Amino acid sequence: MHTITLINGDGIGPEISDSVIKIIKASGLEINWDIQTAGADVAAVEGVPLPERILESVRKNKVALKAPVTTPIGKGFRSVNVQLRKDLDLYANLRPCKNLPNVKTRFENVNLVVVRENTEDLYAGIERMADKDTAESIKIITRKASERICKFAFDYAVKNNRHEVCVVTKANIMKMSDGLFLESYRKIAENYPQIKKREILVDNLCMQLVQDPSRFDVLVLPNLYGDIVSDLTAGLIGGLGVAQGANIGENCAVFEPVHGSAPDIKGQNKANPTALLLSAVEMLKYIGENSYAEKIECALFKTLSQDVKTVDLGGNATTTEFTEKIIENL
Ligand code: NAI
Repeated sequence: MHTITLINGDGIGPEISDSVIKIIKASGLEINWDIQTAGADVAAVEGVPLPERILESVRKNKVALKAPVTTPIGKGFRSVNVQLRKDLDLYANLRPCKNLPNVKTRFENVNLVVVRENTEDLYAGIERMADKDTAESIKIITRKASERICKFAFDYAVKNNRHEVCVVTKANIMKMSDGLFLESYRKIAENYPQIKKREILVDNLCMQLVQDPSRFDVLVLPNLYGDIVSDLTAGLIGGLGVAQGANIGENCAVFEPVHGSAPDIKGQNKANPTALLLSAVEMLKYIGENSYAEKIECALFKTLSQDVKTVDLGGNATTTEFTEKIIENL
């Protein structure tokens, strides 16, 4: 039996975690969940929102499913999400974006994957006031991290029968930093003759994505562009309630939805568990449980096709009703 860390989060986190655990159990797959609490309530008791016990649990189990955690504002805490990625060296942020049945959006043919470098770029947090009227932020791009993420993107493409990996930079302006990312892509690409190559500037990419997203397959980007573009692509398929994600490193992986803890709908039985469920489906594929992953995905798609949808998708089902329908469809 698999033992998997479950960080059940706060806000809507516990509600959607409960839904996903029930659905996985009903699929027939037994998982031993190592449940770990994190966030503001934990900080009040244990002093920090992400205690060492959670990191130890993920290191031991190697795989975690994570619901959203609120980042307390102005209390001096680092974001739990940023800290997890950094401490566990989860260098690849993976966001598959594919249309869902009966979720109406502007485009009907979106099927792309955003691979974002997760550890450096302007997110290294190296900033200073050069003088009282001038702020500086340093963009770090290393050959090691760039080659590692490009290799990840090409390996992902091969493993998932994708045809093209497109690198996204602004290397015409940032000739050294983005130039190094591009150079790393070109070097790694030589090892994958079966995958099509493509290079695009980030501004052109954004325009083309909103004109016709079907032009793209796998995208690999440095951290900042990846952050922005992956929210844009989440919008192309129906928004936060359905956008899944994963943070993957050499030794462990944390699967989590893109959305936050949605305090405005906490405890109202309104939250859409789809993004966490799709993150769990990707997690099941990662641990080799492909048949259960497909079974759950089919039951979700059938439920949406039957027009059972939560409020954020224009339906009127509660979290509980939506969960029960998926279980029935399994
Ligand atoms: P949010 O994503 O929590 O909410 C934005 C809007 O989308 C809200 O109106 C919310 O009701 C709606 N929404 C989000 N997820 C939904 C779902 N599953 N079903 C239905 N509606 C949903 O963003 P916000 O309000 O900016 O952040 C709230 C807190 O979450 C903050 O403390 C933030 O730091 C944290 N956060 C945590 C993340 C994580 O743990 N990975 C990621 C993003 C934000």
